[in-house]
Amino acid sequence: MTLDIELVRSQFPSLAVKDGGRRRIYFDNPAGTQVSKFVTDRISDYFLHHNANKDGAFVTTRATSAIIDTVRQGMAAFFNAGTVEEVVIGPSMTALTFRMARGLESRFAPGDEIIVTSMDHDGNVSPWLQMAERRGLVVKRLEFDRETYRYDMAAFERLLTPRTKFAAVNYASNITGTINEVGAIARRMKANGGLTYVDAVQYAPHGVIDVQTLGCDFLVCSAYKFYGPHLGILWGRKELLADMPIDKLRAAPTYLPGRFEQGSAPFELLAGLLGALHYYAWVGGDKTVFGPFDVPARTSINAGKLKMLKQEERLAQRLIEGLRALPGIHVHGLTGDNEMSERVSTVSISVVGRNPDQLAEALAERNIFVWSGHNYALDVISHLGLGDAGVLRIGPVHYNTDGEVDEILSAMKELVA
Ligand SMILES: Cc1ncc(COP(=O)(O)O)c(C=O)c1O
Repeated sequence: MTLDIELVRSQFPSLAVKDGGRRRIYFDNPAGTQVSKFVTDRISDYFLHHNANKDGAFVTTRATSAIIDTVRQGMAAFFNAGTVEEVVIGPSMTALTFRMARGLESRFAPGDEIIVTSMDHDGNVSPWLQMAERRGLVVKRLEFDRETYRYDMAAFERLLTPRTKFAAVNYASNITGTINEVGAIARRMKANGGLTYVDAVQYAPHGVIDVQTLGCDFLVCSAYKFYGPHLGILWGRKELLADMPIDKLRAAPTYLPGRFEQGSAPFELLAGLLGALHYYAWVGGDKTVFGPFDVPARTSINAGKLKMLKQEERLAQRLIEGLRALPGIHVHGLTGDNEMSERVSTVSISVVGRNPDQLAEALAERNIFVWSGHNYALDVISHLGLGDAGVLRIGPVHYNTDGEVDEILSAMKELVA
C-alpha cells in the first residue's frame, strides 16, 4: 500500500502555514521534522486532563505515571528492547551521551583503546574524546571511504587489538546519508570483548530498528527527528545500565530506568512522543483510535516506517537525479538508482563557486528551508575536504511531495545559472 500523501499532509498543520501568502517547503527535516496532530493532541490532552507530578495517589498523578509507562513500552517496541527497563528518556541525544560517557568511564583502564569514526556527528565523538582524556584512553579513528561513502571495514579490522574496549559508531550519516553496517561492527566488537554505542539519530526517522539483531550495547535517537517533540531516547543493555555509577539524589529511585530519570521530566512531551508512535502506527494502517494509555504494536510502527521509506527513497532519487543534471553540483553521498536503500534521504551537496550559507539564504528568500555548514558533523566535513564552508543539505521526508522536489530543483537551476 502506498502513502496517501494528501491525507498524510493534512495531519501536519504546519505544512499549510504561509508567510506573506507564500507556501513553505520544509527540507530542513534532518535538523528536525514537523509534528502531526497526533503529537499536539496528546500534549494538549495531557495539559488539559492529566497534568501533575508522577507516582502519587490521585487521579492525575496516576495518569501521569501511566503515560510514562505507556510511552516507555512504545519505545521498547520501537527498539525491540528486551524490557522497558532498558529505555531511558532524556532531553536530547547529546545530553544522554554525555551522561553515558560519565557512567561508562570507570569500566576502562588507562591505555585501553576506543574507536570513534569520521562519519559521526560530534554528539557521538566529543563525549568519548573527553572520556578518553579523563581516563587516559587511546583514541583510534575509523575513516569512511571518500569514494564509496562507506566505512572501510578492512581498516576497522586493523584497528582492533585486545585492548579495544569501545566503539561509538553512526547508523546513518547526517551529511552523506549512508546507512552503515553497525550490526557487523557490533558483532565484531563483542567478539573482541568490547562495547558498541550506536548513534541512530538520523536512522530512526527512516528505518526499522532492532537492537536484538544489531547486537549493540547502546543505541540512541532523538524524537524531534521522527515527528515527535524535543526529547532523546536511549536503549541500553540492562546489565550495563544497572551497573553504571551515576550521580544520584538520595531520594531518587534505585531501580531502572528511574535511576537515570531523576527530577521531574517534561511529562507533556513524553505524552507527545507517544503521539509520534501512534502516528507511525496510523500511517502503517492501524485503525485503532489511540488514547493516552495505548501502546502501538511494533508491527504497526514498522509498517508505518516502511511506507514512509518507500516515498523517501523515491523523493531522494528524484532529487539526486535532478541535482546531478545541473552544472557544477556535486552530491556527497551514494547516488546510484540501486543504492537508495543503502542511504537515507538526506542529500548534501557542494556547488562550484557558491557558498552553502549564501545558497541557503537564497532558498530561504523563496521560503524553501534547508541547512548549510557543518551541521555538527565536523569530522565528516573535514574528511571530505570541505573546509569551513561545509555543505548545503536538503532533507526530504515522507510528507514532502514530488512538486516540492521539483521546486527546489528549479530554484537551484536559477541559482547555479
Ligand atoms: C547524527 C546525529 N547525531 C546526534 C545529533 C544530536 O542530537 P540531539 O540534538 O538530540 O542532541 C544529531 C542532531 O542533529 C544528529 O544528526
